[in-house]
Amino acid sequence: TITHVILTGGVGSRLWPLSRKSRPKQYLEIFDGKSLFEMTVERNSYLANKVMVVGNIDNHQLSGKVMRKTNTQYINIIEATPRNTAAAIAFAAFASQPEDILIITPSDHIIDQKENYNQAISEAVIKANEGFIVTFGVIPTKPETGYGYIEAKGDNVISFREKPNETTAKEFISKGNFLWNSGMFCFKAGVLLDELKQFQPDVYEKSKAVWESSEKGFLDLELSMQIPSISIDYAVMERSKKIKVVPASFSWSDLGSFESVYEYLVSKGHPVDSNGNMVIGCDSHTTFLGLRNTIFVHTDTANLILQKENSQDVKDIYNELEKQN
Ligand code: GDD
Ligand code: MG
Repeated sequence: TITHVILTGGVGSRLWPLSRKSRPKQYLEIFDGKSLFEMTVERNSYLANKVMVVGNIDNHQLSGKVMRKTNTQYINIIEATPRNTAAAIAFAAFASQPEDILIITPSDHIIDQKENYNQAISEAVIKANEGFIVTFGVIPTKPETGYGYIEAKGDNVISFREKPNETTAKEFISKGNFLWNSGMFCFKAGVLLDELKQFQPDVYEKSKAVWESSEKGFLDLELSMQIPSISIDYAVMERSKKIKVVPASFSWSDLGSFESVYEYLVSKGHPVDSNGNMVIGCDSHTTFLGLRNTIFVHTDTANLILQKENSQDVKDIYNELEKQN
């Protein structure tokens, strides 16, 4: 069995006010009437024979709507509270047979060049069948600090470094054999669980207890709170000796921040003025005077005006507003 596991946890706070708690970015129908979540389901529908959604109590209805729209049968795992990706992936693995191949994908990435994507997944499935944990390596274009880095030699992974600081990221880029981790993974359920058990026994045991006590896919809140919150990148990828990398020869974009949304929109021909200013979410005429690289984000209930370079700080505004509410 090949199972496509969709992770849908976050709020996308760096895309506030486009992305909201009630409407996380992966459900916004901003791409020809489709959401990133729906595109993720479609992209993988021919590659797997089973689908699993690991989401939470706040978004499982939004996911369910897309699954009905696309007529997709799926196994639903509903977290009572987000415990980060190590636990989310562990639940999917516990819900599978040890020999099942899992293709883990986020639900909020833009991927083009379908042929290349399918090819990369096929390669990954072969390696996963051999007992490896497969990552997908993207050729980096800047010393981004929000990504994981894969030090590669052919398909071997020499080291994996999650979210380095800027100085280290610059070093990695200049060395030339570092790739960005795309955030997608492929492995046998049993292999991942063995590695998790070895490197993070606490996450393993507590996720197992939560999974075993679940009812119809609903996970218990109090037990869940005891699971350490750690991402799969720190928990397993940085430490396992079983990691392989497949080149991500498809075009990939993590629309994680307004900077990456901006770059994506520019590549699609969205208007930007001669000083690099852009309007998102509004058709009325807008003029920027004396401003450079400014993004104006309009929604019905809130606007955001930001300097493109400050894209990573938007989550602080979001967190601040959350506290006030
Ligand atoms: N179900 C569930 N539960 N999903 C979660 C949870 C959780 O507790 N936490 C995060 N997710 C989902 C997010 O919604 C997203 O789809 C995916 O898991 C990855 O989480 P992010 O929070 O977006 O991770 P990141 O972007 O900081 O880093 C990861 O992705 C980068 C590429 O986009 C890492 O894998 C990096 O190494 C990688 O470069
Ligand atoms: Mg992300």
